[in-house]
Amino acid sequence: MTDDRIIEGSLHEEDQGVDSTLRPRVLDEYVGQPRIKANLSVFMKAATQRNEPLDHVLLYGPPGLGKTTLAHVIAREMGAPIRITSGPAVEKTGDLAAILTNLEEGEVLFLDEIHRLGRSLEEILYPAMEDGVLDLVIGTGPGARTVRLDLPRFTLVGATTRFGLLSPPLRDRFGIVHHLDYYGVEDLSSIAHRSARILGIDLDPDGAVEIARRSRGTPRVTNRLLRRVRDFVQVDGEQRISEPAAASALERLEVDRFGLDEVDRRMLAAIVEKFDGGPVGLSTIAAAVGEDAGTIEEIYEPYLLQIGFLDRTPRGRRTTRRAREHLFGSGGAGTLF
Ligand SMILES: Nc1ncnc2c1ncn2[C@@H]1O[C@H](COP(=O)(O)OP(=O)(O)O)[C@@H](O)[C@H]1O
Ligand SMILES: [Mg+2]
Repeated sequence: MTDDRIIEGSLHEEDQGVDSTLRPRVLDEYVGQPRIKANLSVFMKAATQRNEPLDHVLLYGPPGLGKTTLAHVIAREMGAPIRITSGPAVEKTGDLAAILTNLEEGEVLFLDEIHRLGRSLEEILYPAMEDGVLDLVIGTGPGARTVRLDLPRFTLVGATTRFGLLSPPLRDRFGIVHHLDYYGVEDLSSIAHRSARILGIDLDPDGAVEIARRSRGTPRVTNRLLRRVRDFVQVDGEQRISEPAAASALERLEVDRFGLDEVDRRMLAAIVEKFDGGPVGLSTIAAAVGEDAGTIEEIYEPYLLQIGFLDRTPRGRRTTRRAREHLFGSGGAGTLF
């Protein structure tokens, strides 16, 4: 636990209980992502009017942005039960066949980390998603035959951080595809206030903004920082999270002003120090920081692009002056360029 990074979007063990307490249950409580909410609410209403389950939904985006939450919200809004599993948890075709045949009519099947589902399992999903059938092969050799079973109608909600790893035929079978993007400071402040209310924490508006600003655009990080800041404030004998109290706690937590995580910082520093600020190709950066190129492209880079720390040029990635000043101070950056 101690080496978990506080700024990371992915789920830590300690988050799990609190995660479900803080998780919005219905679409109205789900903060931000207005376009996704508006669309989903139309699709859900239309499906309900037709007395059909919702079309299959694919949610993708970096960790901690609310994919799992949204899957639960969809089930709740549709009045449907939800069954939860993940790509790595389903190992054999028989496991998936058992899950599919045991679904209730209208059930939501949430398949997290769907990019990690094996190819042979994907092939079972295709006819299940498209025609609501399961093709079982019975026996082996020349005597083998295929038996086709009708499945209950269901909604598959797939979630992934790595859209690029999904095979095109699988992507194509989702009628509804949404990309979750980083949240702005205003939305993250609302999330902080909402969580503070649930946890009984007295949070000033400016304190919320301070926490939001350092949350790397990620609701899960907001909730985590809120809890850690509360610890500092409480031990300091204060009653509420004011802006100075939040700022001082976040300083002590070594969360920087932009909420960058260690990988973000390593990557930016490598581009500046080893490649003179770029432009440098993605795979070269990946090798320099020891991360997979796809992970950098889909998880780390989008946030750095959004806050204007990184530029994408036809010849590769470049750090911006803003990034260099943040990392090395304005004096230091001058000497590098
Ligand atoms: N739109 C949102 N509004 C309010 N809280 C959110 C929102 N999205 C995520 N959260 C909070 O962040 C936590 C992590 O979200 P989660 O759905 O587990 O992310 P993901 O599955 O994308 O990694 C949730 O427990 C929830 O409390
Ligand atoms: Mg999740």
